[in-house]
Amino acid sequence: MIPRETVEQIFDAADIIEVIGDFVTLKKSGSSYKGLSPFVNEKSPSFMVSPAKGIFKDFSSGKGGNVVSFLMEHEHFSYVEALKWLAGKYGIEIKEKERTPEEIAAQGEKESLFLINLYARDFFMEQMFNTREGKAIGLSYFKERGFNEATIKKFELGYSPERSDAFAKSAIEKGYKLEYLVKTGLVKANDRGMYDFFRGRVLFPIHNITGRVLGFGGRTLKSDKKIAKYFNSPESEIYHKSNILYGLYQAKNELIKEDECYLVEGYTDVISMHQAGVINVVASSGTALTDGQIRLIKRYTNNITILYDGDKAGIKASFRGIDLILAQGMNVKVILFPDGEDPDSFSRSVGIDELTNYLKTKRQDFIQFKAQILLKDAKDDPIQRANTIKDIVKSIGIIPDQIIRSVYIRETSHLFEIGEQALLNEVNKHLAEQEKNANKKSYNQREEAPPPEASPTELGIAPNKQKGKHTLERQERDLIRLMIQYGAQTIDVTVQNDDDEEIEVAYPLSQYIIEELLSDELSIQNESYLKIFDEFYEGLQQGLVVSDEHFIRHQNQSLSQTVIDISTPKDVVSENWTKRHGIMPGTELQRLKAAAEQSVAVYKLRVIENMIAENQDELKKSMENLALEQLLIKIKDLTSMRNSFAEKLGIVITR
Ligand code: CTP
Ligand code: MN
Repeated sequence: MIPRETVEQIFDAADIIEVIGDFVTLKKSGSSYKGLSPFVNEKSPSFMVSPAKGIFKDFSSGKGGNVVSFLMEHEHFSYVEALKWLAGKYGIEIKEKERTPEEIAAQGEKESLFLINLYARDFFMEQMFNTREGKAIGLSYFKERGFNEATIKKFELGYSPERSDAFAKSAIEKGYKLEYLVKTGLVKANDRGMYDFFRGRVLFPIHNITGRVLGFGGRTLKSDKKIAKYFNSPESEIYHKSNILYGLYQAKNELIKEDECYLVEGYTDVISMHQAGVINVVASSGTALTDGQIRLIKRYTNNITILYDGDKAGIKASFRGIDLILAQGMNVKVILFPDGEDPDSFSRSVGIDELTNYLKTKRQDFIQFKAQILLKDAKDDPIQRANTIKDIVKSIGIIPDQIIRSVYIRETSHLFEIGEQALLNEVNKHLAEQEKNANKKSYNQREEAPPPEASPTELGIAPNKQKGKHTLERQERDLIRLMIQYGAQTIDVTVQNDDDEEIEVAYPLSQYIIEELLSDELSIQNESYLKIFDEFYEGLQQGLVVSDEHFIRHQNQSLSQTVIDISTPKDVVSENWTKRHGIMPGTELQRLKAAAEQSVAVYKLRVIENMIAENQDELKKSMENLALEQLLIKIKDLTSMRNSFAEKLGIVITR
């Protein structure tokens, strides 16, 4: 929806060093900058940013991209959110394009709900800080709980007045539609009128990862046991409880930094721990973790530590949910708080040092923890012990990593004084069962394995069409890489002029490659590469060579990503990264003409070999056909073409 010119403007304004510098400490190193990878924990820097090209490359995780893809990767923004963030940073006004009525309708409802929640958040904060009722009831409640003002503001806490339609009236007056107010759940309407869902409650806004408000949790201030302690916004177009974790917005950067996520039960646990200085905390809001929530955490870290209240209720019930976490290959630890304490009360009663010390020293491995709890219950009852062992083994069987599994088997064997082999057999039984189930499930939706690396074609009858054929991906990639990296560099090409004389002409390399392919009516097969090829072609028809910059900031993100991937090395940690992949990598540039000729020739050779394989297939099929003779001639032609290419290539290769 953001107009192309504005996107260009944003890219022009965005200084990649400055933007990434907001998140990563960068040091200048030659013509590039480097720092510690923000995506993995590391001691020596392998994260590089090239200001000249406007791209970054993280050699530890293999991630790379432009300034927008950095924000998408690091902040988990969408493409548009990243652009808007940059526009905000650089003071660029975004005039969104007019949208079609369908687009408005589709976008309209969601956007309206977001706007209403935003208005509600401000309304409830305003009520708490600036009205007598709010200050006396809401604010004083939070203060009594020990939340300071910075914390209250950080979590955007608020207060909803007792008056039955305070919010509804105000929102309607501001022009928000009743229909949407009802859809957010903030307002209820019936034939007697409308009234507020939250009345006389303190409110906890629930944010998505970019900080937009999706809904609210509202705690009553009455101690009446019959009143539900919390009211929560209902599910809506924008609020899907199973995909939200409370506090993730405030915690996400810290999850990456600490490479660990503490999981607590409630709103107040998150907030108190935050205030105490432990930021990497999220809450499942009193329900069992869902797969969606686990995946959300996994985007930031692979390590989950579950914090249990001291009262032990509900611990056993949570074990099932934890198997889901193990199944995702995540590491699960647990910390049990002292009797009668929860993370909220404990954080408030001890200092930050004692809290962090407690978290550090009391952490236990989940499997061990589970075993201990269940064993204690089983006491000496042999049948219960056996069931406990089976239960533990099931959890171990869920762990995807074989090495981790065997470590657990060893530990469990000690704990239960039972032979490793017996445990192993039991685990294997579970694994076999899982596999059976998995096969059943994925039979029809298995991902296709990538085609195996092609082997050189035998010049016999190809047994089947696919087997003898090359995938051209590698050759195509090489051609496209040359075009991107050196597209505008000229090489001397011998051509015939109008008088049939051979003359040398300086050609842009991209033009040379394009003409070589087109003259043989060859076309790139890989879809992304073809798009890049086509854009070069279109550019040349207007007399210009498109720059790598054009692709790096291309609106088609997968295209931009392809180009960035092609033009950065995959996994070499290199001090000389920009030197090698900057504007002037010495060796390849010096023999650019040879490099281009070689790439074109290898590509054509593969194409011809594929044609031979295909024709031989035909040949096999049409043995009794009249076309036989023609086919034989064709294959003979192709073979001699192939040989001449191979010969030419031989000369090029053995330089
Ligand atoms: N919860 C809920 N509805 C309830 C009770 C609890 O949605 N009726 C959710 C809330 O997200 C709450 C979490 O479960 O934060 C944990 O519940 P609890 O420990 O009872 O609440 P706390 O947030 O710890 O509140 P407080 O410390 O003020 O009692
Ligand atoms: Mn509590």
